[in-house]
Amino acid sequence: MLERELDTAIRLAREAGSKVLEYYTLEIIAEEKLGIDNFAEPVTVADRASSRIIVDGLQSEFPNDFVLSEEEADSPIKRIESSRVWITDPIDGTWGFIKKDGDFAIQIGLAIDGEPVVGVVFLPAHDLMYYGSKGAGAYIVKTSGEPLLMKASQNTDFSKMNLAVSRNHRSPKISRIIREFGLNSEMQRGSVGLKVGLVAEAHCDLYIHLSPRTKFWDTCGPQVILEEAGGRLTDLFGEPIRYEIADVQNHGGIVAANGAAHAKIIERLAPLLNQFGRVRHSAAGV
Ligand code: IPD
Ligand code: CA
Ligand code: CA
Repeated sequence: MLERELDTAIRLAREAGSKVLEYYTLEIIAEEKLGIDNFAEPVTVADRASSRIIVDGLQSEFPNDFVLSEEEADSPIKRIESSRVWITDPIDGTWGFIKKDGDFAIQIGLAIDGEPVVGVVFLPAHDLMYYGSKGAGAYIVKTSGEPLLMKASQNTDFSKMNLAVSRNHRSPKISRIIREFGLNSEMQRGSVGLKVGLVAEAHCDLYIHLSPRTKFWDTCGPQVILEEAGGRLTDLFGEPIRYEIADVQNHGGIVAANGAAHAKIIERLAPLLNQFGRVRHSAAGV
């Protein structure tokens, strides 16, 4: 049903990825930009070049759809009036790109009436792609080989669980969570999409992102992939992330986990969030 959308997103992610890799081999000059939340983040010419390829490609293929890119100006009124909204992070994990550690992704998602239905996460330096579309499963493609169907783990025993966490912004509160849950291990990696992918391919059982700073483009594509692999992605309070509102910030953080353990994780997390002073206090966020 969404075949043309998925094929287009895969093609554009690969095109953008090739362009980004051209810049990756050169000297990378990082500029600082102020995000919509007034938080300084790095940006490079590669982020903008990737954005151009994806935005132009989507607009020429689907002229009636709205396209939201982290690197382009948003039109919130037009966006929330549109039923079909493409949401792209041209480079997720720009820190990894700048440090040349390989952990950065091209992410493209499509939300229809606020629900994510197509997702592509392409890691050009690892030549690894995750993709999925509503009702059609989630797949991993390693080094341009055959697509393999992904299934998230079924593990509900905290003492056997592997946690994916940020390599670049690891909060000390994560140590507290690991201790209190009694988790088996942690894997520190860059890029939100990459970490959600690790849960989808059952390499990790859960990913917790405590900061209120991720945006729709960090989660939209990855969410479809994880859900199609049998996992769940919500905010820290277990509330679904919907993509039809004007505010694109995921104020409530992220919990991405296998479907069997998600509810148990949210329940165990609640008292800790309380101790961290995190409370949910509005419909649009926390
Ligand atoms: C995150 C990503 C993401 C940004 C988040 C970061 P990570 O860091 O870079 O693009 O929006 O705020 O926390 O997961 O790559 O270390
Ligand atoms: Ca990002
Ligand atoms: Ca980005």
